[in-house]
Amino acid sequence: MIPFNRPSLEGGELDNMFAAVAAGHIASSGPFSARVTESLRSALGASDVLLTSSCTDALELAALMLDLGPDDVVIVPSFTFVSTALAFARTGARIRFVDIEPETLGVDPERVAAALDHRVRAVVVVHYAGIGCDIDGVRAALADTPAVLVEDNAHGLFGTYRGSPLGSFGRFATLSFHETKNFVCGEGGALVLNDDEDIERAHVLLDKGTNRRSFLRGDVDHYSWVDTGSSFGMSDLLAAFLLAQLEAKDEVLRKRRAIFEKYSSLLEPYEEELGIRCMRVPDDRRPAYHMFYVLLPSRHLRDRVLESLTRAGIQAVFHYVPLHSSPAAARFSDAPAECPVTDDISSRLVRLPFYNALTPTDVEHVVDQFVQAVHTAMDIADA
Ligand SMILES: Cc1ncc(COP(=O)(O)O)c(C=O)c1O
Repeated sequence: MIPFNRPSLEGGELDNMFAAVAAGHIASSGPFSARVTESLRSALGASDVLLTSSCTDALELAALMLDLGPDDVVIVPSFTFVSTALAFARTGARIRFVDIEPETLGVDPERVAAALDHRVRAVVVVHYAGIGCDIDGVRAALADTPAVLVEDNAHGLFGTYRGSPLGSFGRFATLSFHETKNFVCGEGGALVLNDDEDIERAHVLLDKGTNRRSFLRGDVDHYSWVDTGSSFGMSDLLAAFLLAQLEAKDEVLRKRRAIFEKYSSLLEPYEEELGIRCMRVPDDRRPAYHMFYVLLPSRHLRDRVLESLTRAGIQAVFHYVPLHSSPAAARFSDAPAECPVTDDISSRLVRLPFYNALTPTDVEHVVDQFVQAVHTAMDIADA
């Protein structure tokens, strides 16, 4: 049995958790959180990084920072996880779904440009599979508008676009440390701030709408309720786990890159024969090596291949179901959307097992079984 994902220990995770307990601080904003924050802040060149209990929480915090209301619209790609839209829908803002580009599966800047009007307060982009979307295209579309760019960078920590880190372009960017991501602590996330002006208020909203941070700094003699917010902070126990994962960054990226390259080199030669397309990385982007996906020729074939792989003990999976046609879209979206690329890609995409401990032999076995499964599905379709 080869699972789709298996989180692994990369170094001192458990020792760090013991140390957090011994030090007597396991709630949020503890010493391990400070070290994780500093390591992410310097890697991304950010103004600040706030650790949260999930990427969903970080997106909700970004949405609260924008003080959105029912007259506002947020542009979101239809091909993404629910949270990218839900976090903004919860504020009362309407969601306007747009389509993606077939090459990177990131948002299509032309679709963004066509969807802009005076009601649009923010555009959320996703770096799908850890490959940067067309950031310059989106920034050009937003150039003469007040709309804020938000990067949902759940997949792309340490990936780059034209030499700069993913997560460094938006006024806000979010990260995920969920067990399925490259760097994990079970459930976790972060809000990256790229504008100094947002630092003070973001900390208030993170900490139940209170100015506790000013109190801890000694700026005020007691702390009070001063703004909206919630309890978004990450426990220092989880930050302790996460720190060890981030300290193993080079090794984790090396392992994941080797898996990615092995899948590519074994599967690309089959593209023509099987009518498949392996994921591609544009030359001006460095991937975060989050996943390896393949596009099959049709939904029917994709579904048969997934069934065959399950029977062979290999857990390959499909991914996002388009949000623009989801039941909640009728309630939260601004207007019906047409997203033909999303519909097409979503129906043909397969993600192959991908985790740090996957061995070269495992990858060879997955590829053998995958090729066999596609042949069998094609033979049945021809018969
Ligand atoms: C693009 C994207 N954004 C947000 C999330 C939510 O992340 P979390 O589980 O940390 O809330 C996911 C989850 O997989 C995701 O794929």
